[in-house]
Amino acid sequence: MISAPSERAAWLRTELARHNILYYIHDSPEVSDSEYDKLYHELVKLEIENPELVTSDSPTQRVGATPASAFGSVTHKRPMLSLGNAFSAEELREFDARVKRHLGLPEDTEEKTEKIAYLCELKLDGLSVSLTYEDGVLVRGATRGDGATGEEITANLKTIPSIPLRLIGESLPALIEIRGEAFLTHGEFARINGEREASGGATFANPRNAAAGSLRQLDHRVTAGRRLKVWFYAVGEASGWEPESQLGWLEQLKAWGLPTAPERQLCADIDEVVATVAAWSEKKNTLDYDTDGVVVKVNDFILQRELGQVSRAPRWAIAYKYPALQVETIVEEILVQVGRTGAITPLAKLTPVSVAGVIVGRATLHNQDEIDRKDVRVGDTVVIQRAGEVIPEVVQVVTAKRPEGTQAFKLPATCPSCGTATIRVEGEAVTRCPNAESCPAQLQTRLEYFVSRNALNIDGLGGERLAQFIEAKLVSDAADLFTLTKEQLLPLERMGEKLADNLIGELERKKNTTLARLLVALGIRHVGEGGASRLAQGFGTLEKLREATVEQLAQVPDVGLTTAQSVRAWLDNNTAFLDKLIGAGVVAQGDDAAPISDHFAGKSFVFTGALTLFTREDAEATVKRLGGRAAGSVSKQTSFVVAGPGAGSKLAKAEQLGITVLTEDEFAALLPPPAPASRGGEKE
Ligand code: IVH
Repeated sequence: MISAPSERAAWLRTELARHNILYYIHDSPEVSDSEYDKLYHELVKLEIENPELVTSDSPTQRVGATPASAFGSVTHKRPMLSLGNAFSAEELREFDARVKRHLGLPEDTEEKTEKIAYLCELKLDGLSVSLTYEDGVLVRGATRGDGATGEEITANLKTIPSIPLRLIGESLPALIEIRGEAFLTHGEFARINGEREASGGATFANPRNAAAGSLRQLDHRVTAGRRLKVWFYAVGEASGWEPESQLGWLEQLKAWGLPTAPERQLCADIDEVVATVAAWSEKKNTLDYDTDGVVVKVNDFILQRELGQVSRAPRWAIAYKYPALQVETIVEEILVQVGRTGAITPLAKLTPVSVAGVIVGRATLHNQDEIDRKDVRVGDTVVIQRAGEVIPEVVQVVTAKRPEGTQAFKLPATCPSCGTATIRVEGEAVTRCPNAESCPAQLQTRLEYFVSRNALNIDGLGGERLAQFIEAKLVSDAADLFTLTKEQLLPLERMGEKLADNLIGELERKKNTTLARLLVALGIRHVGEGGASRLAQGFGTLEKLREATVEQLAQVPDVGLTTAQSVRAWLDNNTAFLDKLIGAGVVAQGDDAAPISDHFAGKSFVFTGALTLFTREDAEATVKRLGGRAAGSVSKQTSFVVAGPGAGSKLAKAEQLGITVLTEDEFAALLPPPAPASRGGEKE
């Protein structure tokens, strides 16, 4: 080595920085990893021998030795703005109209539309950071904080290998402050959570929380172990640089060695933006990182400057948000519900929030084990999620936001309704009230279920009315509903002659029902609507069903042994109740969904995920009326799986078995045109 150590060290630093950028930014390394390591170790050795040669931008300085005791604060020279939101194509067009209005452009007419070009970028779901380079050297890194002041996290950001410690290229600005999003890929998130789980630690709810937790570590050596990524999308301050466009900036950042998102789309007008947003809503699910929307930016910088900002958001950009599936909210109370079967279920009462476009105010906590595992407490901030048709559930507690003085939650030792000591069968997760005979809450939920729309569908009887009946001791089971008299009803509050007549008339009418509906109404464990309708098709009448053996029950297509045993056991335990129902005049015959054509003969369908054109019951009933079969689970016998948004394991199984998967629209297209004759006319 002929050159002086200082020259050699400088050369090594520049060379290592260049290779780093080729590797991380351009994905085209010139040297092998081992050659890179050789250069790196040469620099380490030189710096150990000559400590005065160490500079802050040396790659050896990414991970220093000493953890910080607190973060300093950084005042952003230019505030880090936030963005206004749009939730629909219509709101995007309103944004476009606002932009044009501010620029003094004429309103759009049928003949003539002014076009504004926009750059679409994915909205990365991480946390925004700011980096300052002086003469090309990284001098400071900060969080966004409240937009005006953030935390100084230079040491942490330096550990991210794709962040250059020194920019490359000619004519670098003397000072430049750039902004981007730090995030974790799904793979890295899974790896971190896996490790935390293995060591008994708390897991992160989602990649964003994990990224935030990793970046705001006082010990930056922890950050170094987390393999964060940062993609840059904006410039705060840049002395002497006047770019022309947002796209131009992204290209310039990349040329200096700063990572930018690969996904970007220059759109000639708002129509193209709307199309891009729609296209990316599919694409985003295939990416290895989370995005929660699309940031739409006026591309031209002259126009951007002219548009300026309102309060804390620019007029030239907007964030189109996809419906969030996971949202944070607060547990206001933990309620305890007693179900039909005596199961005691804890339910979180939440500060209402919108999840995937639906307001959610409650989430199930399942059982005591689940509460213990997640340690959900009243007052906690929790992450909740709603996926497809699934009931909202609490994914995780944000322990960092837990207020003081909270207590672990325990289900009550006695039934909140009847006071009977609760039991929990060894090996089962469910806590139960064993008082099936006379627990008012159990009776109440059984009756509510009995009269509900998909069961006997009794109009005018809801929870409050039923509670009144129970309170007045007019009913002790569902059969009692059918022998209620006007004299019994009239003394009740909010009851008049007419209402009493109507109710009794309705009950009289609904005594004639179908076997499928009655089976649903009975609330037999493992028998849902699908099972009830299959059993009804298999046996036809209640009398025949009552005589069936477990084996015969299990021979009904799609009825398994568990269901068959459950039905048999229920029939054996409820002979008196069934006799009482029949004695009260209840007759179950015929089938709501008897076939009227053989359009789908020999075909079986499974519906999964959220449907929008039909309810699931309607879709299944339609298939049956057209001579097909609607099954609850996917098997080799399944002809079609109709999958809506949020479809999960059934869709996966269909794909695995190579079964044709249809969208709801494609299913609708298979239906015959509506026949003029009504089915009632044909059948009778
Ligand atoms: S531009 C003045 N571009 O979204 C505009 N922001 O709601 C400043 N974000 O705080 C932001 N991806 O954390 C911009 N491609 C992107 C983005 C992006 C994610 C975040 C960023 C910002 C927030 C604004």
